[in-house]
Amino acid sequence: MKPAYTTAMGQAFNTSIENFIKSENFEALKGKVDLILTSPPYPLLSPKAYGNKVGEEYKDWLCEIIESLKVLLKPKGSIVIEIGNAWDRGVPTMSTLPLETLIEIKTKLNLHVCQQFIWNNPNKLPGPASWVNIKRIRVKDSYTHIWWYSNTPEPYANNRNVLSPYSDRMKELLSRQSYNQGARPSGHVVGPGFLKSNQGAIPSSVLNISNTPETSEYREWCKAKGHTRHPARMPEKLAEFFVSFLTKKGSLVFDPFGGSNTTGRVSENLGRRWVYIEQSLEYVEGSKGRFEKFNKWLKK
Ligand SMILES: C[S@@+](CC[C@H](N)C(=O)[O-])C[C@H]1O[C@@H](n2cnc3c(N)ncnc32)[C@H](O)[C@@H]1O
Repeated sequence: MKPAYTTAMGQAFNTSIENFIKSENFEALKGKVDLILTSPPYPLLSPKAYGNKVGEEYKDWLCEIIESLKVLLKPKGSIVIEIGNAWDRGVPTMSTLPLETLIEIKTKLNLHVCQQFIWNNPNKLPGPASWVNIKRIRVKDSYTHIWWYSNTPEPYANNRNVLSPYSDRMKELLSRQSYNQGARPSGHVVGPGFLKSNQGAIPSSVLNISNTPETSEYREWCKAKGHTRHPARMPEKLAEFFVSFLTKKGSLVFDPFGGSNTTGRVSENLGRRWVYIEQSLEYVEGSKGRFEKFNKWLKK
């Protein structure tokens, strides 16, 4: 199978993941992937523009695909899957299908859940509209679930690569070097190591990342070429977090539901190799705009 385009670090394929799994290219990737990072189509109640399965069928379909992809992983490789929330049709109640799917991926595929994350988007617009904006009986739904799995309980990971800047309060404590150490009512003991500077704070598993500022190259490319911008892009900062945390320079990152190729763009920026699969030609053509090879004329 020929790639739709290549860059210095990556290969993009315009095909369904089901077809790619049957290809020689897939065979060649077995045991070579450090991280599968993906945001599959969400289990919505009615199919969206980019097409998706609904209900129980969704769960079986996604489990089957992830099961086929397991062979791509290196022994210390990881799988990170982001799935948004879903609501029941016509009533103000939430579907548990996203969570059931995430649990089933663990149990059916015999994977370890290394950690669960929440991606909270503080700038998310209020919704679902009927219940949040019109009837005012629910609050806005602003987060998605991200589960990190592996074949081993100890895949490669290094949280030193994802430190966040210290808060002003912590900076002050570090310069003052005095803090009320000892046991807290909860039983937690604050020891002397608390005041050691570690170049940054260890981030929490709730990732507060706004998805509003997007790369202007992608937006301008789509506008100039008349391509529809992908409606469900992952913020680059979110992909950066997992690529930096779970891989090293030169590692290989694979996205089976690539969309606008945020994963490839971020991997390339961070010196990682990447493979991207996307079934829609429209989105593949749009995704080229993320790479200098194609977009440099926009900057002139
Ligand atoms: C939620 S979007 C991914 C967005 C992506 N993370 C980004 O940042 O742009 C899911 C994508 O999967 C694609 N897709 C759906 N079914 C697919 C399949 N069977 N094989 C490959 N791609 C598929 C859709 O066209 C859609 O672009």
